[in-house]
Amino acid sequence: MNIRDKIIIVTGGAHGIGRAMCERFASEGARHVVVADLDESTSRNVASQINGTALLCDVSCEADIQEIVSHTLDVHGHIDLFCSNAGITTKGGAEVPDADWQRLWNVNVMAHVYAARAVLPSMLERGEGYLLHTSSAAGLMTEIGSAPYSVTKHAVIAFAEWLSIHYQKKGLRISCLCPAGVATDFLDLDDPIHQFLHVSSVPPEDVADAVVRGLADERFLIIPDQHLPVQEFFAYKGEDYDRWLKNFARINEKLERIKSRNSSS
Ligand SMILES: NC(=O)c1ccc[n+]([C@@H]2O[C@H](COP(=O)([O-])OP(=O)(O)OC[C@H]3O[C@@H](n4cnc5c(N)ncnc54)[C@H](O)[C@@H]3O)[C@@H](O)[C@H]2O)c1
Repeated sequence: MNIRDKIIIVTGGAHGIGRAMCERFASEGARHVVVADLDESTSRNVASQINGTALLCDVSCEADIQEIVSHTLDVHGHIDLFCSNAGITTKGGAEVPDADWQRLWNVNVMAHVYAARAVLPSMLERGEGYLLHTSSAAGLMTEIGSAPYSVTKHAVIAFAEWLSIHYQKKGLRISCLCPAGVATDFLDLDDPIHQFLHVSSVPPEDVADAVVRGLADERFLIIPDQHLPVQEFFAYKGEDYDRWLKNFARINEKLERIKSRNSSS
């Protein structure tokens, strides 16, 4: 799909990767970009720079997603591309409180389900439409510092695969964005694991570039060129799961040592 002349919604469009996508879509000649985010004032700034629309939306609330979709359909007649991009994280493993597991589940997973529910009827009626799901390299492998993030990002990929299998023959296209570290506010630079991700991080504009190329090729898995080792690690995981787990356990041990050194100094 080429971006020129398209009607696009981007959630989490006020900052980071979402913002870079909004700006890039506009410069590629999108007809209209809707910047949907919890941060209303920054969304407005982004939207005003690209002649788009800012809509306040909490993606974990189905009524909010229904509202941005019906507003866009009323004004523009159809939606070509819906980017479910907003996402959050928290640190920790099994001990993370249920409320935090649920918060990540709602924002990182259910928001994608709500978006699909809201746009599928009109897209299926037209026989075309595109859903872009922002997952992460953590969805293909794992994020050592966060079980809830890893689990929810795996779930995003599972849902995107399911949609692709069910709807590609009906004219719909589905892609899944899986970058590793991206230099946005999302990375907590006091955390050794995020510091590790930051070393090979790319600017959000490079992710937007990969998205535009990936959408043009209608590729399911979109990974920035600088993060292609992610694809190699993913293939390696498929080839030898146990060795892959041992390697990650070794990296985890190293990071745990750095963490305890930092906390004792
Ligand atoms: N930065 C990274 O290293 C990295 C790597 C891989 C994947 N990702 C994924 O990319 C996506 C974007 O991350 P980013 O790095 O741009 O983060 P970011 O924190 O810079 O931006 C996230 C945006 O989402 C918005 N948001 C958060 N919760 C929301 C909600 N409930 N409703 C609506 N908007 C909400 C925020 O206001 C913000 O504008 C996320 O899904 C994240 O998991 C990030």
